[in-house]
Amino acid sequence: MKKREDIYLTRRIPEPAVSLLASKYRVFVHPDRHPPTKQELKRNIRNKNGILCTLSDRIDKELLQGAGPDLKVISSYSTGYDHIDVVEATKRGIVVTTTGDILAEATADLTFGLILAISRKLVEADKFVRRGSWKEGWMPDLLLGSNVHGSTLGILGLGRIGQAVARRATGFKMNIIYHNRHRVRANLESRVGAKYVGMNELLRRSDFLTIHTGLNEDSSNMIAKRELRKMKKNAYVINAARGGIIEETDLAEALQKGWISGAALDTYRHEPLKKSNKLIKLSNTILLPHIGSATFDTRRRMSRIAAQNLINVLEGVAPIYPVNPHVTFGNREKETTKGQRL
Ligand code: DGY
Repeated sequence: MKKREDIYLTRRIPEPAVSLLASKYRVFVHPDRHPPTKQELKRNIRNKNGILCTLSDRIDKELLQGAGPDLKVISSYSTGYDHIDVVEATKRGIVVTTTGDILAEATADLTFGLILAISRKLVEADKFVRRGSWKEGWMPDLLLGSNVHGSTLGILGLGRIGQAVARRATGFKMNIIYHNRHRVRANLESRVGAKYVGMNELLRRSDFLTIHTGLNEDSSNMIAKRELRKMKKNAYVINAARGGIIEETDLAEALQKGWISGAALDTYRHEPLKKSNKLIKLSNTILLPHIGSATFDTRRRMSRIAAQNLINVLEGVAPIYPVNPHVTFGNREKETTKGQRL
């Protein structure tokens, strides 16, 4: 009888992933709330056929080398895949999958929440009421902020999430500009009401610069001192993509010195954010704990897709959201070459 495949889940995630997987395979779930340490990961992925991981797990070359020859698929419970060495996985014939677009709307909702919260001082206002500072009733100059409606929204990365943010911005009658490595099709631009501009123009004109690009070698520290200096003094930076896209020390300097007005962030280069991080001490920031996709519905749908991706690969069917699709169906020699370009 064929041996049952062994699957390792690096974290307990919302259902239905575990039920779906357990009906077919032997499933090992990391028992703690904390992500596994590197040593635990190393030990637990050995001789498994599939891994369902999260963005907190760094699946690097060393780890993949130690995994053993039976590993066929790494299904990430995330849309980003910067935590996985895709080139190395591809070389080893391991399919990497993500949850694709499924979290675009939830992340766009949160992004809009950040835009409103930072410009209208919502967090500060809530604290003001709770600590009993509201003594005079309505006041002409209390907690004045900036308009969202009618302002210029600069979108860096007009993928699914960027587009979903643009659609929301239309309702606020914002003037929408965007920059991408590649300009999107004209009909898509007009559908979301966004105008393509160069990077310098994006930085110069945005009242809100919102980041929706993936993290890779090109985008790492893409927003640093040089870029921040080009922005308006009244501008805000919003980031619900990946922290590594912004050089955080430079951002803290920009906020301290008033080069820009504020920053609302959901993601950081190193998570969780350390208490000693300068951004925590600044009053013109809003800092969230990476909750862009955190709605019950979205996390459930991510769970189903992550499990289905994994099942598909083990059953020889195309996964729903492959990162390196040629590994499943291509000829192995070509795969390696293509994979290196990923
Ligand atoms: C992702 O999936 O990449 C998000 O950042 C986490 O929900």
